[in-house]
Formats: sequence, C-alpha cells, structure tokens
Amino acid sequence: MPVSTDLTGRTAVVTGGATLIGRGVVAALAEAGANVVVADIDETGGQAVADDLAAALPTGSGAVTFTRTDVTDDAALTALVEGTVAAHGGIDIVVNLAATYLDEGFATPRADWLTALDVNLVSMVALVQAAHGALKDSEHAAIVNFTSISSSVAQTGRWVYPASKAAIAQLTRSMAMDLAADGIRVNSVSPGWTWSAIMDGLSGGDRAKTDRVAAPFHLTGRVGDPREIGAVVAFLVSDAASVVTGADWAADGGYSAMGPEQAVPAIPLLAE
Ligand SMILES: NC(=O)c1ccc[n+]([C@@H]2O[C@H](COP(=O)([O-])OP(=O)(O)OC[C@H]3O[C@@H](n4cnc5c(N)ncnc54)[C@H](O)[C@@H]3O)[C@@H](O)[C@H]2O)c1
Repeated sequence: MPVSTDLTGRTAVVTGGATLIGRGVVAALAEAGANVVVADIDETGGQAVADDLAAALPTGSGAVTFTRTDVTDDAALTALVEGTVAAHGGIDIVVNLAATYLDEGFATPRADWLTALDVNLVSMVALVQAAHGALKDSEHAAIVNFTSISSSVAQTGRWVYPASKAAIAQLTRSMAMDLAADGIRVNSVSPGWTWSAIMDGLSGGDRAKTDRVAAPFHLTGRVGDPREIGAVVAFLVSDAASVVTGADWAADGGYSAMGPEQAVPAIPLLAE
C-alpha cells in the first residue's frame, strides 16, 4: 500500500491562501511537491504569497500561482477550475480555507448571516461541485475543509462563525460519504488559536503576548504556527492518509482535550 507523503506531480487549489495560515498551508503543499493555485479575493496578498514562496521554497518544490477568485461567485469558481486544469492538467487536491469572521453575535442581521454562511460554508460546496469532474479523474483526490475549535464550544459574542464551522464539520462527513464512490477522500481540520492575520493585528504583532493569552487553554501553552497547520493538511491530502476520510483532525495544541478544569489540579482544592 502507498504510504508516501510526497505530492510531486499533484495539483492543489487553496482558497483563502492570501494571509498567514493560508501561506503556511500553501508552503507545506508546495514543499511536498504539489503545484498550488492560491484562490483568494485579496489580489495584493495572494500575489505576494505566490511571489514570496516562489523565491523562498527549496528546489524541487511545486509551483505556486495566484488566481483572483471570489469564492461566492460561481462563474469565478468555474474559471478557477478550468484555468487550473488548463495549466496543470487536472486537480487532485482542494483545500477550502477561505473564511470571514463577520459576526456580531446576537445582533447579527440576516444579511450578514447569509453573507458569512455563503463565504464559509456554501462556497465550499460550490467549489467541490465545480471541481468534481477533475477530482474524479484524479487517482489521489482529497479535500480538506477548514473548521475550527469554535465549532464545538460557545464563545462570547460569536454566533455566526461558530455555527458556520459546526456546519462544516457535518458537511465534511456528508461529502466524505457521497464522494467515496468517486475515490475522493474528504476530511476537515480544526485549528486552535493559530498565529494569523487577526492575531497579528489584534496583538500589534506581539506573538509572545499572544502565546501568553493562549497558554491557559492550550496544552502546548502557545498558539499554533501556520506551518504546523500546513503540515497536518499536507499529510491529510497525501497517500499516507489513504485510510482517512470523513474525519475532523484537531490541530489545536490540545485545546479540545482540555475540560473546564483546565490544566490545573482542581480536586486538591477540596482539601484546602
Ligand atoms: N486564526 C485562527 O486562529 C483560526 C483558528 C481556527 C480556525 N481558523 C480557520 O483557518 C482559516 C484561515 O483563518 P485566518 O485566521 O487565516 O483567516 P484570514 O481572514 O486571515 O484569511 C481568510 C482568507 O479568506 C479570504 N476570503 C474571504 N472572503 C473570500 C471570498 N469571498 N473569496 C475568496 N477569498 C476570500 C480572505 O481574503 C483571506 O485571505 C479559516 O477557515 C478559519 O476559520 C483560524
């Protein structure tokens, strides 16, 4: 049985690849040998990822290119798929990573609910529908959907984003069920707090402070690194994960293993 993590000769489409986590995923796939098409609405950021990685990746890595794509636009998704197949001869890997954090909790108006669910959830389906023929033709077809630790816990002031991520976890199981006959594996990853554009912005670029804030609720005592998330994705889409489908992979530093007692001895408090 093939157990290789090598992705040489494969083609991947990564939506939302223009910021830090996306870049980490794109880099991991390209370093494993895949040609990667970054599909993002952010033209400047997406092109910068392609240009930076072309200069930084070691010899033997796959090519990284950028195609400006709004994932909520079906015509753009069709053009993305057709352009990728024309350039690379097929599509083996789809990583649905694009997301919006649009969320005002209880106060979120209907229009924002629909916008956020369209970006985070429905567009994953639309891309898989558009790429289905190409994936079916691949002998190594794999999809990874990005969900989050937010899919299974309540977080103050957030209603839309966690609901979208919970739906993605279930969508992944449905996709895996119905696409198995086409030889397409489908899994999701659930990152914990990860060094990302939003954390960079909120902390003023202070990663040490971000680690300190995250420490009490991650067993690793720090935020994850985008390359660590990329490594999990690269494994899941490789032949080494050929027995894995319909699963959600925690890439969360132990966040989801920790209960309300956190990582401190609570029982001894009874004897105090
Ligand atoms: N940041 C974290 O700690 C964390 C934790 C758990 C899960 N995640 C998940 O990881 C993924 C990346 O998160 P991030 O923090 O890097 O987010 P981010 O906002 O930095 O990146 C999201 C990307 O999606 C793109 N995008 C948004 N709308 C789009 C559209 N309509 N069409 C195409 N592209 C569009 C954005 O331009 C951006 O490049 C998301 O799925 C997120 O839910 C992040």
